Amino acid sequence: MYQQHVPITRSQQVAQNVHILEFQSEAIAAEAIPGQFLNIRPSRFYDPFLRRAYSIHRVMGDRLEIIYNVVGKGSALFAEAKVGETLDILGPLGTPFHLEGEFRRAVLVSGGVGIAPMPFLGDWLLKQGKQVANIYGARTAAMIADDGRLHNARYATDDGSLDFHGNVVGLLQQFLAEEGADGLRVFACGPNKMLMALGDFCQLRGIPLEVSLECQMACGIGICQGCPVEMATGDRKYTLVCTHGPNYDYNHIRLESIPAVH
Ligand SMILES: Cc1cc2nc3c(=O)[nH]c(=O)nc-3n(C[C@H](O)[C@H](O)[C@H](O)COP(=O)(O)OP(=O)(O)OC[C@H]3O[C@@H](n4cnc5c(N)ncnc54)[C@H](O)[C@@H]3O)c2cc1C
Ligand code: FES
Repeated sequence: MYQQHVPITRSQQVAQNVHILEFQSEAIAAEAIPGQFLNIRPSRFYDPFLRRAYSIHRVMGDRLEIIYNVVGKGSALFAEAKVGETLDILGPLGTPFHLEGEFRRAVLVSGGVGIAPMPFLGDWLLKQGKQVANIYGARTAAMIADDGRLHNARYATDDGSLDFHGNVVGLLQQFLAEEGADGLRVFACGPNKMLMALGDFCQLRGIPLEVSLECQMACGIGICQGCPVEMATGDRKYTLVCTHGPNYDYNHIRLESIPAVH
């Protein structure tokens, strides 16, 4: 883990209320593993005081990207940041996606800005020789932020303005009807309601599901005890999302125990 002041190399709006920040850090890029996140200080004037958590979206050589929605003061400041300014970044943080065990094919399911960890994960899995498909859902086509960064992507929109008319669970069902579930593991990130619906769907069919959680965080490094999630298995009643997570086997946690950020 590093704390660094890193230069911004690109700042761009890529869809409705969806922005990308790219910055340069050889050390963080070399250490990062898919599913990890960065804790970024929105202002050098400590207003807001707390760092904000962002999944590592892509790693390209010594450059990294985050993708984000503007939802509050911190993200509004990121959207105003200019190329050449520096960001105070702590990371990489958290336990990566669990990639061990037997699976041949992966379907990466994103809801909205839940696309955040997926391009990095997809690139990594392809290098490991896995087959990768993406299912990416949003309310409407204007909110879809994909310029080819997702491998083998299918889209679901609530209003039917792009591809499948419906949600990502419906599109996954269609995918399975065409491609089958043999050797498959599903990875998902998005609103808790989406993860719960996907969890029910996968549990019913015995499909392994790994989820990447978002919750309110403060320190991001296991000190403040502010990010507990209740465990459904094992000896511990709770773990901390910032250190033990944010990536969990869906069957190991009680998702309803954490307040959703959205
Ligand atoms: C491990 C982890 C990874 C994350 N990765 C990403 C990511 O890659 N991209 C991303 O955009 N966000 C991500 N988040 C969420 C992000 O950290 C929060 O949205 C952050 O609080 C935004 O800061 P802010 O100052 O703009 O808004 P805040 O002032 O913190 O929040 C403003 C208001 O918006 C609500 N809010 C907070 N987050 C959201 C949201 N995502 N959608 C709608 N309303 C919200 C809050 O409840 C509050 O009412 C991640 C969170 C975690 C824990
Ligand atoms: S955010 Fe402080 S312990 Fe997790």
